Amino acid sequence: MKDKFYITTPIYYPSDKLHIGHTYCTVATDAMARYKRLQGYDVMFLTGTDEHGQKIEDKAKAAGVTPKQFVDNIVEGKGGILDLWKLMNISNDRFIRTTDDYHEAAVQKIFKKLYEQGDIYKGKYVGKYCKPCESFWTETQLVDGKCPDCGREVQDAEEEAYFFRLSKYADRILDLLENTDFLEPRSRVNEMVNNFIKPGLEDLCVSRTSFTWGVPVDFDPGHVVYVWIDALSNYITALGYDNDKYNDYDKFWPADVHFVGKEIVRFHSIIWPAILMALDLPLPKKVYGHGWLLLEGGKMSKSKGNVVDPVILAQRYGVDALRYFLLREFPFGSDGNFSNEALISRINVDLANDLGNLVSRTVSMAGKYFEGGKLPNKQAEGPEDAELVALASGLRDKYEGHMEKYAFQDALVDVFGLISRANKYIDETKPWILGKDESQKARLARVMYNLLESIRIAAVLLIPFIPDTVEKIFAQIGTGENGRTWESAGTFGVLPADVTIHRGENLFPRIDMEKELKELESLEKKPEAPKAAEAPKAEAAKAEKPAEPEYITIDDFAKVKFVTAKVLACEAVPKSAKLLRFTLDCGEEFPRQILSGIHEWYEPEDLVGKTVVACTNLKPRKMMGIMSNGMLISAVKEEPDGSEKLHLLMLDDKVPAGYGLC
Ligand code: ME8
Repeated sequence: MKDKFYITTPIYYPSDKLHIGHTYCTVATDAMARYKRLQGYDVMFLTGTDEHGQKIEDKAKAAGVTPKQFVDNIVEGKGGILDLWKLMNISNDRFIRTTDDYHEAAVQKIFKKLYEQGDIYKGKYVGKYCKPCESFWTETQLVDGKCPDCGREVQDAEEEAYFFRLSKYADRILDLLENTDFLEPRSRVNEMVNNFIKPGLEDLCVSRTSFTWGVPVDFDPGHVVYVWIDALSNYITALGYDNDKYNDYDKFWPADVHFVGKEIVRFHSIIWPAILMALDLPLPKKVYGHGWLLLEGGKMSKSKGNVVDPVILAQRYGVDALRYFLLREFPFGSDGNFSNEALISRINVDLANDLGNLVSRTVSMAGKYFEGGKLPNKQAEGPEDAELVALASGLRDKYEGHMEKYAFQDALVDVFGLISRANKYIDETKPWILGKDESQKARLARVMYNLLESIRIAAVLLIPFIPDTVEKIFAQIGTGENGRTWESAGTFGVLPADVTIHRGENLFPRIDMEKELKELESLEKKPEAPKAAEAPKAEAAKAEKPAEPEYITIDDFAKVKFVTAKVLACEAVPKSAKLLRFTLDCGEEFPRQILSGIHEWYEPEDLVGKTVVACTNLKPRKMMGIMSNGMLISAVKEEPDGSEKLHLLMLDDKVPAGYGLC
């Protein structure tokens, strides 16, 4: 047995049914956990639910049940979170609910410990609160007066509260982020440092008195522990920290990696390490902030009504098809656009055509040309073999390189590279011609063997992604226990020469794209109101409708006024990491002032004298207390790591200022 490996997903809010975006992170974590188990690690894969907070209290009230009844239903009820993970074949070793007694008691101990040692103190909170995000913000952190995470309205908040001395740990956190590989992808580091640390880390309000659904502060009735302190602690309480329920803390902590969505990187890469520093505990080795699955360009959320139900998709296309699609289609560190066409196309091209066909062609030819599906020992090599064998032999190490970087997409591209190469090998060796010639029997046996062995190696490496399908493949190609191991995936020639194959079912039936999309459309059109239990079906069908391009008319376009503008002056906006303040000649009576968030890419002095493009009839708005009268136009590019890069549109400096664009 190798070392231990401890991996976690975020613990999910059971305020609504989970959607495909939540499934994405859990499937990725599952693939990583299965990969590490395959390599021989002693794996602890933790997931769970984060059940406290005002949002849940409000929802329960609206539903006329207690908060505990409310979360019990979403977590453990029929079609709940536990059922979803079972359906998705999630192999978590442990599941924590933050309403579990042992966790609540441990959170109280942690809070008290921090209070007694002076890392938590009592004060008064005056600021802004975003209810949907359960986040407190200071005035300066707001964007246009709204929550910087979700863009929604915030409320004034003032209450007696406990504070965590986050500011005390600012230097250590900065060092951790800037000088280690603690947080990945790297672009997320810049975001944390520029947006949160450089402007000054303030102490964090860690108790609430405005609602009761939380872990009570046991030494001060009326206060409940801030939901994020409660939630983050799950990663250690689930191992037995400060409780007797489990006894694995020493074995598994620190975590090898926390997988989290990009909007909660702040909590995991700043607040969580600071809490651990205060508790004098080792830090997790890594936090990986993955991208979002978007629908029609926006983040899925129940409140926006644009969620996709993973249950419907798994039932229609199979769990493995969905798992494969999620990890093959989108680079893990970046956002990706979900669409039903993309899903069906991946199933048809990669799974049905490439993998499914390779297995069925190989197994049926081996069965047809060799009695009982058993290959003879006598086999003859040929000139076509070397390339395929080399590719298959070197695949495991390449794959490992990608998996160690959580580059699931790249790992799958390489595995399917072997699958395509094997299909090409069939075309090159033409077994149907060899099969007609008795003298070619030994050559045909070798061709079949090479194909089976390539399939076996690909299948072992697909265990983390499509575990049920791989079992079917192993059964068809006659792989024993020794041909399913990590070690065996690095060696060509593990199957016995006289392997016996067994024809099985078609792995992935092809889907008629047009028909399927129509069916989904008609599902959406069904007029009758769905019963409560069926409601998600109709909702998902709606969400999956292929996006119609949204055209605008020439009149719409003409409403936007673009003009050429000469930069007269440009300077950084004090206290802002992003904003530059431009004074522009737009051909008007007076120079125009516009703010643009491009400081990350440009030094102000380099822009003076340039000719740029401005939109001048955008409603003026204040940013950092300074008025911006329009917008400068930039080209935007999403980098492979999920970050965005802006290039200010610049024109030939001979173009005069104040010209309109058409
Ligand atoms: O944040 N695409 O819970 P949560 C990708 N309880 N990931 C998505 C997504 C999407 N469209 N929508 C949501 C919480 N997620 C806290 C975590 S951990 C100590 C506490 C991801 O249920 C999201 O990014 O709102 C997050 O990582 C996870 O689902 C849980 O979200």
